[in-house]
Amino acid sequence: MKTGNLRRVAAIILQIAWLSTAGAADLSGSPFDEERAKQEKIYQTDEEKMLENYVIDRSLENYAGALASGFEGTLAALGPNDRWLDVGAGKGFAILDYYTSNYDYRHPEGREKRGSKAQSVAISIEDRRTFLWHKTSAMLATTKMKYLFGKGLQEYALEDLGKYQLISDVIGGFSYSANLSLFMEKVLELLELNGSFFTVLQDVNSQDGGNKPFYPGASFLTEISKADGSEVKVCSWLKSISCVEVACEFKTGWRPPIETFRIRKTCNAVSVPALSPVHFNAGTPPERRYRVGN
Ligand SMILES: C[S@@+](CC[C@H](N)C(=O)[O-])C[C@H]1O[C@@H](n2cnc3c(N)ncnc32)[C@H](O)[C@@H]1O
Repeated sequence: MKTGNLRRVAAIILQIAWLSTAGAADLSGSPFDEERAKQEKIYQTDEEKMLENYVIDRSLENYAGALASGFEGTLAALGPNDRWLDVGAGKGFAILDYYTSNYDYRHPEGREKRGSKAQSVAISIEDRRTFLWHKTSAMLATTKMKYLFGKGLQEYALEDLGKYQLISDVIGGFSYSANLSLFMEKVLELLELNGSFFTVLQDVNSQDGGNKPFYPGASFLTEISKADGSEVKVCSWLKSISCVEVACEFKTGWRPPIETFRIRKTCNAVSVPALSPVHFNAGTPPERRYRVGN
């Protein structure tokens, strides 16, 4: 083998070695410093051009259009003692919309039970709070809205976040996290029994398999394979988690198209099959590949 090829093989082995041990700190201390730096730059960007692709201002209506159909009804049915976590909240516009009187006007069902509405927590790596966020949270009871930033979801302890009846994620941590199995473990730890996690992935091989990678010549954005190289669809991997009920639905209205996932926690003995990250390229969202197993 020529030196160049040897170097490439060594780099791949190094990448795999690092990625399989990548834990709570997600991308830190890796030979992927360049990709990590690029991803961090995306999180912190205020450049208009970059923000065309890195969308941080989706409304609650956008969330309802992106997530599985049960999302709207589940949110509308939460009472004042229930809790909603939005992972990867960006500017937190979805949460802000929820506390408006317009929301009640548009969702008359369950209005009485809803009362002063559920407590919500927004999580983002970077602080995207706006003047409107500060103004609204100052007007509501102190426990109603919280915005946490500075680290990824998987780095929080259960004691810091508490438990939730509803967790949402629209192109947030589920699309961006380098360690998907660790991320799912944390989500399921934070879900109450019978609570639901609603999320999506763009440009992924859907359960019904009718779609191709969106960009000609490129691969899907998130891919999972077994040790023998055979493919495991994201929906199938989610269904292999114990104590969950999973519904996957392909939606074509988006470019690239998305697959929606609704994951309901049915018992407490959750066990998430490990995924070892083998590839991570920074992006909006990043390109990720995983192998099943440690
Ligand atoms: C593309 S923005 C989406 C914002 C919002 N959901 C929307 O649709 O407008 C991605 C968000 O996910 C956050 N994020 C990325 N990885 C995360 C992780 N592991 N845990 C929590 N938030 C994460 C980013 O900081 C950012 O707030």
